[in-house]
Formats: sequence, structure tokens, C-alpha cells
Amino acid sequence: AVVVLDFGGQYNQLIARRIRELHVFSELLPHTVTAEELRRKNLKGIVFSGGPNSVFAEGAPDVDPALFDLGVPILGICYGMQLLAKRYQAQVRRGHVREYGRATLQTADHAGTLFAGQPKEQQVWMSHSDAVVEVPAGFQVDAVTPSGTIAAMSNPDAQLYAVQHHPEVRHTEQGQEQIKNFLFEVCHCEGDWTMESLVDSAVAQIKSQVGDERVLCALSGGVDSSVAAALVHRAIGHQLTAVFVDHGLLRKGESEAVMGTLGEQLGIDVVRVHASTRFMDKLAGVSEPEQKRKIIGTEFIRAFEAESERLGPFRYLVQGTLYTDIIESGTATAATIKSHHNVGGLPEDMTFEIIEPLKELFKDEVRELGQVLGLPADLVWRQPFPGPGLAIRVIGEVTEEKLHVVRETDAILRDEIAKAGLERDVWQYFTVLPGIQSVGVMGDERTYAQTIAIRAVASTEGMTADWARIPFDVLERISTRMVNEVPEVNRVVYDITSKPPATIEWE
Ligand code: XMP
Repeated sequence: AVVVLDFGGQYNQLIARRIRELHVFSELLPHTVTAEELRRKNLKGIVFSGGPNSVFAEGAPDVDPALFDLGVPILGICYGMQLLAKRYQAQVRRGHVREYGRATLQTADHAGTLFAGQPKEQQVWMSHSDAVVEVPAGFQVDAVTPSGTIAAMSNPDAQLYAVQHHPEVRHTEQGQEQIKNFLFEVCHCEGDWTMESLVDSAVAQIKSQVGDERVLCALSGGVDSSVAAALVHRAIGHQLTAVFVDHGLLRKGESEAVMGTLGEQLGIDVVRVHASTRFMDKLAGVSEPEQKRKIIGTEFIRAFEAESERLGPFRYLVQGTLYTDIIESGTATAATIKSHHNVGGLPEDMTFEIIEPLKELFKDEVRELGQVLGLPADLVWRQPFPGPGLAIRVIGEVTEEKLHVVRETDAILRDEIAKAGLERDVWQYFTVLPGIQSVGVMGDERTYAQTIAIRAVASTEGMTADWARIPFDVLERISTRMVNEVPEVNRVVYDITSKPPATIEWE
């Protein structure tokens, strides 16, 4: 394996994921991991990742010094480069530049292995303020930026490599090539790891954790919980019971669709719980997004606890949590963006032990895993839908009337996207009710009614997203139908912000 040590950057897990894409097993570990713990893994290399701190700040995260004696190559990225610079006493100017965003990299004539086979000038994604101005003894300069800062350095004899930019993001044109060179030319990895091997190790791990205890799984009808359920089912078979909570915040026709086919597709019996009254009662009068998310997270657990009493007891609860849910909910080193219902929204007094077999993966990896597990394509390629459902698409307080407007407009949007054959091209698409009334004119009469926002994005894993370029004629049909068929609506707008700086959902 090649491990990535986490210093708190939002994109760190992406590094691990890019490595897995190249068929080398990789996981993200806390920067506090010891050399002793790493020695137990079949270790081929280590990556020090990015992070929000300056290595010179007081209490800045550091690594176990014994890592440098493990005899495996190390690649420092961004903060990781600064860490190497500090350890080997490079000359660093603090707060010298603020390079943020795209930058041009010029590689040196003798640039080392990481840059082999790449153009002399390339676009990279930078985000730093401290800069190395003179490399330590034994190191060479591999690349600079036009501002004269050292953008990459290496000491091949000591197997140390460092880059200031982020090779893991797509904006770095040659990023994947650089990671590839590190894995295969520097670390001499085999590149024979596959999703099948992930299934085998996850199944073995779940079996040994669960023993002969019974397990409840939270099924929503979406990709993540279905793949998690299928994986656990493969491990422990009939010890697993699946529960689908209908919280009244689902899309049009969804509850029936889930109950109609999902159990059969997964080969598992599914118990439905009608909990819409409970959820709506708890949400009444609440408009703050984080509070709404926490209420929903708690009510989900309460519903599972009630089922556990009725059908159980169950010691474990399986959730289809993804890495994206975890990083956005906030970790020891990363900021809270929003509390995903199944992570930051969980109640503190919960008694279940949680099993989250997908918690290190991204959405597209989970889809691949679903395919390996033999799940049907229409299930694997379903668009993402958040656990809190339509409650986070009604801005502010949630009421049945507002849910109705979002549900009806969402159904029209989905129908038109399907008719236009765009289901696979647009990663996620839905409507939002911002709660803005505006003036219109219909049939010679004045109207004063609701605005609907259409949100549609292109993405691969939801960490970053671009607004989708839906053809204007499709947008026009959508708009006309929404205003004609949903009387509460007299205006339709299209959200044209990417992530970042916006997020995909509005709350
Ligand atoms: P954002 O809005 O943060 O969303 O850009 C990224 C992806 O995550 C989905 N999402 C959630 N999924 N529980 C989930 O299971 C949640 O609480 C949650 N919040 C957002 C969102 O739909 C998008 O696909």
C-alpha cells in the first residue's frame, strides 16, 4: 500500500483515491500514525498531504520522525512539501506569496522522475503562502513558477520528492502522470489492486467484526445504502435486516418504487417504517439548516431504535456513509461545511455500533463497487439524493405545502431530463424552493407567487462540481411545464454557480 497522511486539507482523500484509480491500494491515515503501525502494512510509499496550517505555526501538525527511517519513498504535497523543507532546513520565506488557483509550472532541464515524459510548461493548481526559496543540501530544484518560487524539489538518493501544487485535482493537467511516476517509477508498485479485492477484504472485515450478532441496515433506495447493504449481506446473509424509513421528505413516487423493487434487486427483505408525522412534528417551526439536519439525523436513529425494539435486538447499524459525508461534516483537522445526516447529525446517546463499509470511498468508486457486486445498472446509476431529502431543498421552515411544490417541480424536471436523454450526463438535478415571491402576469391577471430554482451539476464524486450546461430548449420546456402545471409557481431560475464556491444543495 501507499498511505496518505492527513494534515486537514479538503482534497486529501482525493490523493488516496487517485492512487486507487491506478490500481494501488491506498488509504488516508491521521498524520499522528506511528512508524510502528505503518510497518505492519505492506508499505511501498508515503504521501504527506496538504493542510490549512503553516508548518511554522505553533502546534502545527507534524509526523513521527521515525517515518523517515522506514526506507520507503516519501512524496510531500503542498503542506507536505513545507514539512520536508522544514525538516531538512530549506530556506523558506513565510507568507511570501499568495498563490491560489491556476499557476504555470516550468520544469527544470534535469527535472527528476516525477516529471518524466511531461511538457516543460504545464498548468497546475496551487494554494499556499509560505514558499521555499532555496532547497536543502542534497536536493535539486525540479520546477519553479513565474514568481520564482520553487514549486518542486527532490532528493532521489534519499527517495524524497516534493511538489507545492496539488497533483490530485483535475485542474493540474499532468497531476495523474506525476502520481503515476511516483507509484511506479519511484515506489515500484505492482498496480494489481482491484475493486474485487476491496470486496474480499471488506467482507472478511465485516464477518470478523459482527460474529453471530444481528445487524440492522438503513436503506434509502439510493446508491450508497444499497451498495453497503449488498456488501454486508454478502458477508453475513440472513443476520441482516433492512429498514426503509419513509420520512415524508421523499420525491414523488419514491416510497412505492423502493418498496416495489429494491428488496428483490438486493435479495433482502425490506421493512418499511412510516415516520412522516414524527419528522414533520420535530421540524415544525425550525428554519436553521444545521438544526434541520441534526433533527433529521436524530429522528432516523430513533426510528431504527424503535425497529430494533420491535424486531431485534440489533447491536449494529449499517450506514452507506461516504467519505464526502465525513469530510463535509468536519473532522479533527477539517472545517464543518454541513452536517450530513448520517455523520454530524447523529445523536450522542445512540446505542448502535455503526458499520460504514464505504466510508473511505467516493461516489463513483461506490458505483464501481456496486457493479462488481452485481447490482442492476438502474440502481447503480441513480442520481445522488441526500438523506434529509426534500427538507434541505425547501429553504427555511418545512411545511407540507412547500414540500408539495418542490416534489411536483422535481418530478417535472426529472421527467424532462429523462425525455432529453440526459440522465447520465447530468450528475445530479433537482429543484429548490427559496421562498421568494415575485410578481407575474398570467392570462391578463397579476400573480404573486413562488420562484423555483433549478440546480443541475456535472461532477464525478461531489467534492467539486460545475453547473450543468443543459440545452436552452430543454430548460424552456421545463420552465413552461413548471409554471403551467404547478399553480404555486410563476417564475423559474437556473443556478449557475459551481462548487466551490457554492455547494450542490442549497442548505
Ligand atoms: P453538497 O451540497 O455538500 O453535497 O455539495 C454533496 C453531495 O452530498 C449530498 N448530500 C448529502 N447526502 N446526507 C447524504 O446522504 C446528507 O446529509 C447530505 N447533504 C448533502 C448532496 O446531495 C450531494 O450529492
